[in-house]
Amino acid sequence: MYPNLEGKVVVITGAGTGLGRAMAERFGAEKAKVVINYFKEDEDVQSIIETIEKAGGSGSAIQGDVTKEEDIKRMIAHAVNTFGSLDIMVNNAGIENEVPSEDLTLEDWNKVISTNLTGQFLGCREAIDYMLENKIKGSIINMSSVHQEIPWPHFVHYAASKGGVKLMTETLALEFAPHGIRVNCIAPGAIDTPINAEKFDDPELKKGVVELIPMGYIGKPEEIAACAVWLASSEASYVTGLTLFADGGMTQYPGFQAGKG
Ligand code: NAI
Repeated sequence: MYPNLEGKVVVITGAGTGLGRAMAERFGAEKAKVVINYFKEDEDVQSIIETIEKAGGSGSAIQGDVTKEEDIKRMIAHAVNTFGSLDIMVNNAGIENEVPSEDLTLEDWNKVISTNLTGQFLGCREAIDYMLENKIKGSIINMSSVHQEIPWPHFVHYAASKGGVKLMTETLALEFAPHGIRVNCIAPGAIDTPINAEKFDDPELKKGVVELIPMGYIGKPEEIAACAVWLASSEASYVTGLTLFADGGMTQYPGFQAGKG
């Protein structure tokens, strides 16, 4: 646990499901004040707020689309109006879809880039603007992926977006380090969330993914949430521009494991 997160105000985008939800609940367990941005009306945000409140934190939900500048501005304003500040911004919302690159439409390309990269940029920009104006030495966490590093055929738009997140994170870290604003990203491997539901429901496809993970299992959302609270806490006070890989070793060339190669 990280006592200095108590009372800190956190905005998490795409927090109605998956990793965003797990992070919202973990920040709640740290007794933070959590703004849960959700996207689709059927996402059960009420139960997230209940879990957070039961753990001693506070939660408030706001619908919004990260591709829309005015929605990101509304999320930050909601944090300030409801909880009085903004200390931590987690740009998590993201999408993917599989298409051979020769068939990828401009519409699909733009949709993924505007959600995964432009949406994260808008979240960074608005949070940094608020932190500068209010002299807050805040923390920003962007959700990248092992595919900021590992090429991914049929997901060129996704891989390009996450490669962009990496250099965006590093550039902003450099630019705002003098102000004490830390900007880092987390790069998960394969984690059990709705984004992978279809793949993991198929035992053959799931087996194929597990074979790429030296630790031999699909990660749990809580294992990513644990990275987020550490990065946001004062325990990581000297850490900026980092990509924290949480991937069971997926980026360590698993093909060379156990005498192969
Ligand atoms: P998920 O599908 O459960 O979560 C994505 C969330 O983003 C959903 O709640 C969705 O409603 C929301 N969202 C989509 N478009 C949005 C928009 N325009 N505005 C606001 N919210 C929007 O999947 P998961 O796994 O929790 O994904 C979270 C992040 O983690 C994504 O950025 C994803 O790329 C990244 N990631 C996930 C991995 C995994 O294996 N689950 C691996 C590497 C990265």
